[in-house]
Amino acid sequence: MHVVGGSASRTLAGELTKSLEAVASSVEVTRFPDDECYVRVDDNLDGEEVVVVQTAWPDTNIIELMLLLDAVREMNPSSITTVVPYLGYARQDKKFKDGEPVSARALARIIQSQSDKFFTVDVHAASVMSWFDRIPAKNVSAHSEIGRFLKGRGVELVLSPDEGRWENAKEVADVVGCQADFLVKERLDGETVRMTPKSLDIAGIKVAIVDDIISTGGTIAKASEQLRGGGAASIIAMCTHGVYAGNAIPRLKDACDEVHSTDTIENPTSSVSVAQEVANAIRNG
Ligand code: R5P
Repeated sequence: MHVVGGSASRTLAGELTKSLEAVASSVEVTRFPDDECYVRVDDNLDGEEVVVVQTAWPDTNIIELMLLLDAVREMNPSSITTVVPYLGYARQDKKFKDGEPVSARALARIIQSQSDKFFTVDVHAASVMSWFDRIPAKNVSAHSEIGRFLKGRGVELVLSPDEGRWENAKEVADVVGCQADFLVKERLDGETVRMTPKSLDIAGIKVAIVDDIISTGGTIAKASEQLRGGGAASIIAMCTHGVYAGNAIPRLKDACDEVHSTDTIENPTSSVSVAQEVANAIRNG
């Protein structure tokens, strides 16, 4: 098995290569003067099982993924398994007006046209997986790894910022060995959320707010306000995908004591690796 790691997922691809006892393909990625992407996979993949790993966000990384898949397909591999640790556009999973695409579906269609199997991690909406309708596709959960990490940080309560993700918080809390609860969130616009006050017994305890994505940080900032008001001893913001749009990082640092994410998007907060879970999923087919 050979692993082709794109520039958005180099560290994770390296970890996956080790876990799968695979060969790391040499991949060159550069930019032309007009900023178009150039890729070259320097490996002989004829007849090989190939795993291509590349997060599909932001747009430049989606183009790079397309180019990598094309390069690999041309080398006549026996199969291409595409691992997209963070599937961008998954929040655009519905059409609201005539003439709009379903952007998540558009991405799924492009990826599956060049792949034999597909894996992603903590996809924003489960329904997105149904658009991979011509190849086996699996959503891998990062909740166990997140739970193990938070247990090591001494977390005593796991909170979801809204009821919709309470099941996720419960899965994480089960691994930590503590209780899970949820806050009541209403989204007002892309940058603003409102949290309805909720009575929580949090005075003096270490709380983790666990979400799938942190984008603007607005959700976590509002949740933290409420937790500080309730006397929490410390607040950890934890997500699978650290998108961190605009000034999210300073905003989060003001609001919380710690900020952590997984390596589905590689950045300085990537404290948890999803490599082992993804490797297990690939091994189990
Ligand atoms: C929403 O459904 C997601 O689960 C996250 O809560 C959301 O994407 C967070 O966005 P932001 O950081 O901009 O509040």
